[in-house]
Amino acid sequence: MVSIRQATVSDLLQMQRCNLLCLPENYQLKYYLYHVLSWPQLLYVAEDYDGKIVGYVLAKMEEESSEVHGHITSLAVARTHRKLGLATKLMAAAHRAMEEVFGAHYCSLHVRVTNRGAFHLYTQTLGYTISETEAAYYADKEDAYAMRLNFKQPEPQGQQSGSDGKSAAAARKGGKRR
Ligand SMILES: CC(C)(COP(=O)(O)OP(=O)(O)OC[C@H]1O[C@@H](n2cnc3c(N)ncnc32)[C@H](O)[C@@H]1OP(=O)(O)O)[C@@H](O)C(=O)NCCC(=O)NCCS
Repeated sequence: MVSIRQATVSDLLQMQRCNLLCLPENYQLKYYLYHVLSWPQLLYVAEDYDGKIVGYVLAKMEEESSEVHGHITSLAVARTHRKLGLATKLMAAAHRAMEEVFGAHYCSLHVRVTNRGAFHLYTQTLGYTISETEAAYYADKEDAYAMRLNFKQPEPQGQQSGSDGKSAAAARKGGKRR
C-alpha cells in the first residue's frame, strides 16, 4: 500500500534519489531544503509500505509575481509505481495546500513538449492549459510548454455553491477538471 503524506526534512535524500532516477532535471540537496523550509506545506511524498519513497512533488509559491500563485518545481513517480494514480494524488495535495494555505489563484509549471505521459496527466487528468511555448527552455534545448491551472476563487459570502462548486471540490480531491 502506498500513502500520500507531507514531506519532512528526513525525506529529502530519498526524494532526490527518486528525482535522479526519473528526470534529467536534477537539483542540489540545498534546493530541496530551501523548498521544505520555505513552503513545507507544498512538498508531498508517496511512501510505500516499507517506508520507501516512490514519488514526490516539489512545489513552491512564486514570489516575484503580481498574482499570487504556486509553481510545480518537480514531480516524479518511480517506474515501478506508475499509472496507479499517485502523481494525480500528489498534484491534488499540492494544489489544495496552495489554495488553502497560501491563497493561490493558480498553479503554473513547465513540461517538455515531448513528455506525453506528463502532458496527459496535466491536460486530461488535472485540467491544465498551455499558456505559451518557451523555446529551448531546457538545458538540452528542448522546448517547454508553460502551463497553468486556475483555481476556483471562493464565492462571496451568502452564495450557495451550485453543481460547479461540487465539481471544483472533486477536482481538488484528485478528480478531473475538463
Ligand atoms: C509523469 C508521471 C509523473 C506520471 O505519474 P503517474 O503516477 O504514473 O500518473 P497517474 O497514475 O496519476 O496518471 C495520471 C494520468 O496520466 C496518464 N499517464 C500516465 N503516464 C502516462 C504515459 N506514459 N502515457 C500516457 N498517459 C499516461 C494515466 O493513464 C492517467 O490518465 P487518466 O487520468 O486519463 O486515467 C510519471 O510518469 C513520471 O514520473 N515520469 C517521469 C518524470 C516526469 O516526467 N515528471 C514530470 C515532469 S514535468
